[in-house]
Amino acid sequence: MASLVPLLLLLVPIISCLPVASCKSHVGFKLTLTHVDAGASYTKLQLLTRAVARSKARVAALQAVAAAAPVTDPIAAARVLVRASHGEYLIDLAIGTPPLNYTAIMDTGSDLVWTQCAPCLLCADQPTPYFQPAQSATYRLLPCRSARCGQLPYPACFQKVCVYQYYYGDYASTAGVLANETFTFGAAAAESSSSNLTSAVRVPNVSFGCGNINAGELANSSGMVGFGRGPLSLVSQLGPSRFSYCLTSYLSPTPSRLYFGAFANLNSTNTSSGSPVQSTPFVVNPALPNMYYLSLKGISLGTTRLQIDPLVFAINDDGTGGVIIDSGTSITYLQQDAYEAVRNELVSIVPLPPKNDTEIGLDTCLLDGLYLGVRLMAC
Ligand SMILES: *[C@@H]1O[C@H](CO)[C@@H](O)[C@H](O)[C@H]1NC(C)=O
Ligand SMILES: *[C@@H]1O[C@H](CO)[C@@H](O)[C@H](O)[C@H]1NC(C)=O
Ligand SMILES: *[C@@H]1O[C@H](CO)[C@@H](O)[C@H](O)[C@H]1NC(C)=O
Ligand SMILES: *[C@@H]1O[C@H](CO)[C@@H](O)[C@H](O)[C@H]1NC(C)=O
Ligand SMILES: *[C@@H]1O[C@H](CO)[C@@H](O)[C@H](O)[C@H]1NC(C)=O
Ligand SMILES: *[C@@H]1O[C@H](CO)[C@@H](O)[C@H](O)[C@H]1NC(C)=O
Ligand SMILES: *[C@@H]1O[C@H](CO)[C@@H](O)[C@H](O)[C@H]1NC(C)=O
Ligand SMILES: *[C@@H]1O[C@H](CO)[C@@H](O)[C@H](O)[C@H]1NC(C)=O
Repeated sequence: MASLVPLLLLLVPIISCLPVASCKSHVGFKLTLTHVDAGASYTKLQLLTRAVARSKARVAALQAVAAAAPVTDPIAAARVLVRASHGEYLIDLAIGTPPLNYTAIMDTGSDLVWTQCAPCLLCADQPTPYFQPAQSATYRLLPCRSARCGQLPYPACFQKVCVYQYYYGDYASTAGVLANETFTFGAAAAESSSSNLTSAVRVPNVSFGCGNINAGELANSSGMVGFGRGPLSLVSQLGPSRFSYCLTSYLSPTPSRLYFGAFANLNSTNTSSGSPVQSTPFVVNPALPNMYYLSLKGISLGTTRLQIDPLVFAINDDGTGGVIIDSGTSITYLQQDAYEAVRNELVSIVPLPPKNDTEIGLDTCLLDGLYLGVRLMAC
């Protein structure tokens, strides 16, 4: 597999708006996305170093997914459901009746919606109490024969109840039962003058993993919400639907936003420069159909189109390669040749001597706040 190298451009005010799958929608809400490091008082240098380290782990996990994808043997096939954990953004939601508030990692790189449930046999630390199915009036176990059970990558059956195991690429995992519940979204978004935006949206019959055996890091949250393209993701379950998110720099106090359904409307979205947004279709990699692949053709700096063979961005026949957009990777990784082309051009046009910034773990530092990284990982 080609090596990927990270590219971090922080001087550019980044507002990325990601519209997904446009269709009629019956559910609409908007939420604040909280950066995982927002609660703690890290310095700018610590924030960068932590983001670089998380992205490095995330890319390694995503590459483990890609490497595991084209397999035929069933044990290895179970590993195909490796996803990448380590999120960057958290959302607030509530589960059950009466609703129990919790915070979860928002993840476009996986599908399953899950939280840790009592009785917990093995659980990661979380800031809220475990969800107690017996105390919710709307909790329903899913039978093994149900359509939703069949959509799990690795379904199993125990006493006629659908049980799941879900692995992430860094050996985080969750296992438990698949159940339906009523989820509540958007209660925390009460800040708009339009009254419809202020009310919480209750969505019945969302299928989720009630995890009794869980391992890994939840970044001070209590579960994950998969926004991938697979059938069990929140996006697919609420569909036909769509979502968009606008990410502010995590060095900025302006919160990031997530819009769902009717509120994910590109008509009311402008770029920071005031020009209308442009769009490009997602492409499907058959080896990893739940990921959001983009068809990248080239990179320009200013008006200079860099000399990069477009094939370095292509999805290969074996499912490797390609370019994904991912909520959990805060720095952009490029294939080695593409990275060198961008780095060399930047170094040549910025009239400052490049410095090797080993403190953060990136190889080229041009200005305060503008970093270029190389070779954080080899594969
Ligand atoms: C749950 O979250 C909502 C929205 O943030 C808040 O209004 C409500 O008071 C919370 N409920 C509890 C029990 O903390
Ligand atoms: C607010 O919601 C009501 C009921 O769902 C709907 O009739 C109305 O058109 C909505 N208003 C706006 C501004 O979206
Ligand atoms: C949830 O699904 C069950 C089974 O299909 C159905 O009986 C029930 O009415 C649904 N609940 C809601 C609130 O739609
Ligand atoms: C769970 O929710 C799905 C989707 O709404 C529905 O088709 C199914 O019948 C529900 N099952 C149960 C047991 O509520
Ligand atoms: C964890 O989250 C809780 C609120 O959910 C917050 O009060 C606490 O400060 C957070 N802890 C850390 C270490 O971020
Ligand atoms: C966006 O605006 C165009 C033209 O005004 C309209 O045809 C289209 O239906 C709008 N789309 C949405 C999702 O509102
Ligand atoms: C978006 O930009 C266009 C052109 O500058 C402007 O007419 C429009 O009002 C802007 N819309 C929003 C929602 O800011
Ligand atoms: C930057 O420093 C690291 C650690 O000393 C070294 O491995 C790397 O090759 C250096 N990169 C450049 C471009 O000099």
